[in-house]
Amino acid sequence: MIPKETIERIFDAADIVEVINDFVHLKKAGSNYKGLSPFVNEKSPSFMVSPAKGIFKDFSSGKGGNVVTFVMEHEHFSYPEALKWLAKRYNIEIEEEELTAEQIEAQSERESLYLVNQFAKDFFVRQMLTTNEGQAIGLSYFKERGFSEETIKKFELGYAPQGSDNLTKAATSAGYKLKFLEATGLSRTNERGSYDFFRGRVLFPIQNITGRVLGFGGRILKIDKKSAKYYNSPESIIYNKSKILYGLFQAKHDIIKEDKCFLVEGYTDVISLHQAGVKNVVASSGTALTEGQIRLIKRYTKNITILYDGDAAGIKASFRGIDLILEEEMNVKVVLFPNGEDPDSYARKVSTEELDRYLDKEAQDFIHFKASILLSDSKNDPIKKAETIKDIVRSIAIIPDQITRSVYIQATSQLFEISEQALLNEVNKQLGVKQESDFKAQQIAEKKNPTKALPRKTSSDGRHLLEDQEKDLIRLMILYGSQHITIEVEGEDGKTEEVNYPVAQFIIEEILSDDISYLNKDYQQVFDEYLDGIQEGLVVSEKHFTHHENRDLNQIVIDVTTQKDSVSKNWGIKHKIFPVDESEKLKEAVMQSVAVFKMRTAENMITDKQNLLKHEADNDEIMSLLEIIRNLNRARNSFAEKLGITITR
Ligand code: CTP
Ligand code: MN
Repeated sequence: MIPKETIERIFDAADIVEVINDFVHLKKAGSNYKGLSPFVNEKSPSFMVSPAKGIFKDFSSGKGGNVVTFVMEHEHFSYPEALKWLAKRYNIEIEEEELTAEQIEAQSERESLYLVNQFAKDFFVRQMLTTNEGQAIGLSYFKERGFSEETIKKFELGYAPQGSDNLTKAATSAGYKLKFLEATGLSRTNERGSYDFFRGRVLFPIQNITGRVLGFGGRILKIDKKSAKYYNSPESIIYNKSKILYGLFQAKHDIIKEDKCFLVEGYTDVISLHQAGVKNVVASSGTALTEGQIRLIKRYTKNITILYDGDAAGIKASFRGIDLILEEEMNVKVVLFPNGEDPDSYARKVSTEELDRYLDKEAQDFIHFKASILLSDSKNDPIKKAETIKDIVRSIAIIPDQITRSVYIQATSQLFEISEQALLNEVNKQLGVKQESDFKAQQIAEKKNPTKALPRKTSSDGRHLLEDQEKDLIRLMILYGSQHITIEVEGEDGKTEEVNYPVAQFIIEEILSDDISYLNKDYQQVFDEYLDGIQEGLVVSEKHFTHHENRDLNQIVIDVTTQKDSVSKNWGIKHKIFPVDESEKLKEAVMQSVAVFKMRTAENMITDKQNLLKHEADNDEIMSLLEIIRNLNRARNSFAEKLGITITR
């Protein structure tokens, strides 16, 4: 844990313009600075930095934040990593807060595993490069496969000698505890003693995105039937296979640069492609692609191209991975390699230009890919064709974005010469089925545990209107939270009295009094933090949020306080303070926003109850739902009346 005071010191010392200037060429524009977005390719600058407020806003990608957020976004660091990076740059010493015994135990265990792996990696590298056995067996194997010295070094490849316990002995005599060697899977122990897991194999260290070694893949040198081609480190507290992609550490900058990630199966595929100049490549290491792995890629790009070697069974098994990618709103393409070639063998066989051309020319979208695989053996079988179309439609229905869905519907329509309308109907049917089963799941969840129900599906328009209103309240709290408005309050004796209220407090009390909560989790958290502040007698400042550790929160706060249309004018001067004689206007704005919010909340609840009604069979339940809806309607109408809105319902 980095102490709060140190974090404040880092924020004070770190000059946002200076830091961002390391990555983006900034030019002064009025009191702000402008530059080209480092997150998207653009020709005219839409990236702004406000030194006065200590924030940046990228109007192209929508990203915004403070100096720490910038470093996190740009370097893909975690919060503490970004703080440490800035501390180093500004020579601020970080004395981490004392941890509890339990935390130390947990932390030192993780750290110990990292250190043991680091030791092992160095050991394997040294064995390969400096011993006779290593050179004769390990190094020569890699050289035969065409790996250059530079490549071997870049991927820190190594060799585990054939002896039974070389590593275990070297590590324990260097002071590493056996229990950590065992926890990483490097050593094993039986009644005769401890021995090395990897023996007589070449080693591929598996690294996380910051380059720390989590485990190893060890390849046997000569394929024989008795022993598996690869031995892999087991999972441990630092190694979760479903969240790791081999090669990401070496590839991440190129993935960003190319805005595309190639996905292959094997260690050697990554390495050979890399050596051939295709550096934006990672491997799932022979396992089925997971959501966690896709999310890792999504941090760097939305475009994935999967490279398959042509074994039909394996390819069909990979369809699930394609659906997972579509579900993440990412774009997926597929390249098939000629029979008998994998990316590694192909990359070594052809020139770099041929490889580039092949990857470019052969890339097909998932529709054509699925069609070609599923129809390959029975082109003219109508039943097979119908099944194939349904299969493709199922994938299209998974895509969250409607526009993207339409594009794929068009493509499918052209490919199969079938009307878009027919496909659309099928997609909608799929979506209907999906919603239905979600609804059932929700009902079951609510019965089991009423407080932990799934998020409720409501008419999405109503939801959006309500969320917009939530955002408006957040905006008022942030911009005018500490300004006062005068409210008439009726005392117990019936007399009215004028009370001065900070805007934030007024809004909070209004919402608490009706026991309403926000739909949007992040808005709710902003609200809760205001509430915490109010309970301690203070109104939290905008800075509280722009310096907040939670990136979603500082993004929201920056969004509501900066607006695109004011970029060219006075971006940054957002505190349009209402002068005293205008405080009536502020009051009006606040009262109105609160009333609209309550009206929208009632509307949203009505839609909810109406949905329940549709699926309710029990008569008593129906009656009580109808009663609730009547009451909600009454409440809704009274808010509408206050606002002077005609009642249309
Ligand atoms: N794999 C594994 N265990 C095995 C076989 C394969 O863990 N017994 C994983 C490895 O991560 C391997 C990937 O699956 O890299 C792909 O397997 P394969 O294509 O058989 O290996 P290649 O990477 O092509 O290795 P090589 O070219 O050396 O044969
Ligand atoms: Mn191979």
